[in-house]
Amino acid sequence: MADAIVVEGLWKTFRLAHYRPKSIKHAVLNFRRIRYEEIVALRDVSFRVRQGESVAVIGRNGSGKSTLLATLCRVYRPTRGSVRVEGRVAPMLELGGGFHPDLTGEENAYILCAMLGLDARATEERLPDIVKFAELEEFIDAPVRTYSSGMVMRLGFAIAVQIDPDILLIDEVLAVGDEHFQHKCLRKIQECQQRGKTVFFVSHDMNAVRRVTERTLWLDNGAVRRDGPTGEVVEEYLRVTAEEESE
Ligand SMILES: Nc1ncnc2c1ncn2[C@@H]1O[C@H](COP(=O)(O)OP(=O)(O)O)[C@@H](O)[C@H]1O
Ligand SMILES: [Mg+2]
Repeated sequence: MADAIVVEGLWKTFRLAHYRPKSIKHAVLNFRRIRYEEIVALRDVSFRVRQGESVAVIGRNGSGKSTLLATLCRVYRPTRGSVRVEGRVAPMLELGGGFHPDLTGEENAYILCAMLGLDARATEERLPDIVKFAELEEFIDAPVRTYSSGMVMRLGFAIAVQIDPDILLIDEVLAVGDEHFQHKCLRKIQECQQRGKTVFFVSHDMNAVRRVTERTLWLDNGAVRRDGPTGEVVEEYLRVTAEEESE
């Protein structure tokens, strides 16, 4: 099978300005003294995902999972190293990513579908299925800022699966939905898998990880700590996390 995702020696660093000026005058006078902190979000990450493979990414908060996903769908550029993604990607980033709060659900659906490569007619054809899957029939003409986080995630997920991507990138989204919708999403993800799609899945829900993926990457402080069969990696992760908590 061909590769769907190839990541080689990937580093991503962010620069955070530390100094907060008290006034504009202060800022101008101290311009050269602004100190930056380098945050290393990803350190030398390498892996490959084959077409049709399903891979989970786990790790504690701040370990770099979202940064990795955002780099795969080109929201971020690598600081060093390379990322190759083959085929059409449907990103489901963290909440709100890609939505404009003042536009309606329907308007946002058109924009997001256009960004993902559908023209207006194709979007129009798929819109009823998107709205139905998202269970937003009564709200699709309301501005997205009036949506709950669960409604935003339902719309994002419905669009992502309806554009029929080669690769599904999913970041933590299941966590905000109610149980009924989580099950619906998991079934939809499994349906995508059966049709040979590649799934890249960030989650804190180890049951969902076990259900959806055969392989898991464990990110620890921006680096790959384990990359192996989901059963083994999840078991070790849970053991180490429990040990650290009891320390
Ligand atoms: N846009 C950003 N600017 C500065 N630092 C960031 C940014 N995004 C993430 N970080 C930092 O990078 C690290 C990894 O974050 P993230 O990828 O969100 O982790 P996770 O999704 O695993 O919780 C954290 O230390 C976080 O504070
Ligand atoms: Mg995250």
